[in-house]
Amino acid sequence: MKRADSKEDVNMRSGVVLANEAIGGGYRHMAVNCPEIAKEVKDGQVVHIKVKDGNEPLLRRPFSVYLYDREAGTVEFVYAVKGAGTKIMAGYEPGDEIDLLGPTGKAYELKEGAKKIAILGRGVGIVSLVSLGVSAAGKGLRVEAILSGKTPDHVFGRKVLESSAAVVHEVYDADGSSDVENVRKILERSRQEGAIDQIFVCGSKRLGKLAYDFSQEHGIDGYISLEERMACGIGVCYVCVCKTTKGYQRVCKDGPVFPLAEVYG
Ligand SMILES: Cc1cc2nc3c(=O)[nH]c(=O)nc-3n(C[C@H](O)[C@H](O)[C@H](O)COP(=O)(O)OP(=O)(O)OC[C@H]3O[C@@H](n4cnc5c(N)ncnc54)[C@H](O)[C@@H]3O)c2cc1C
Ligand code: FES
Repeated sequence: MKRADSKEDVNMRSGVVLANEAIGGGYRHMAVNCPEIAKEVKDGQVVHIKVKDGNEPLLRRPFSVYLYDREAGTVEFVYAVKGAGTKIMAGYEPGDEIDLLGPTGKAYELKEGAKKIAILGRGVGIVSLVSLGVSAAGKGLRVEAILSGKTPDHVFGRKVLESSAAVVHEVYDADGSSDVENVRKILERSRQEGAIDQIFVCGSKRLGKLAYDFSQEHGIDGYISLEERMACGIGVCYVCVCKTTKGYQRVCKDGPVFPLAEVYG
């Protein structure tokens, strides 16, 4: 008989680090060979990394998948080095074997017939949106990406998105261009050039509210990916609940992607 918590049931996989390099702004880009995750992952899903063998640190760390290549069997992450777990990850070297749980959670969904989407990402929130932008552009949709950060060093993903034909705007706190009013103007200009069918946001409550207002004003779908502290990562412990119009929901299992109306409505 198969145990309910067998490796297979909870998507526990091992991966091999291919690269793990600093990319500025305190972020690192890590590429991992893990054909199972590369095959299954959908845009916006999450992988939980057991950063080190043993009990310290005990909890896995959740990370959005930045990019994946199903044929090559690779998945990529971009992470900010912050505390104990990510400091250990910063020391990973090519060839290191790592313990992964995933992919988990709800993915972003592109609406049937959508012709143009807008994606709004801030800081590490950009990570969760890049593969969505690439997938959408690959399907022939127009993609307008607004990437926000403290400084130019805190924004990444531009080259990847542009090479997939997305239109990219970077906005920064350093010069005031990340101001919500300015982001609203960029969105509005884009809408005047062609209707936006869906809007996706991650990494900022203010941008989430802006996206919600925009989606309500123009009668379109909108989604936000939320971040909450997590423990089990698989829907069992309820550490990660957030309040929505449908009651308390688990960010790890019912999200991280939620309709904007459930979060801001
Ligand atoms: C759905 C989701 C997707 C994420 N995607 C990314 C990503 O793509 N890139 C990235 O850099 N970061 C991402 N994060 C945040 C990342 O998980 C934390 O920065 C990381 O766990 C910090 O671990 P630490 O040991 O370095 O920090 P510590 O502060 O030492 O961590 C202590 C504990 O708090 C938890 N924790 C700390 N900060 C956060 C946080 N912001 N969100 C959730 N739990 C936290 C840790 O998992 C750990 O259990 C994501 C978080 C969530 C919930
Ligand atoms: S982290 Fe345990 S239910 Fe979400």
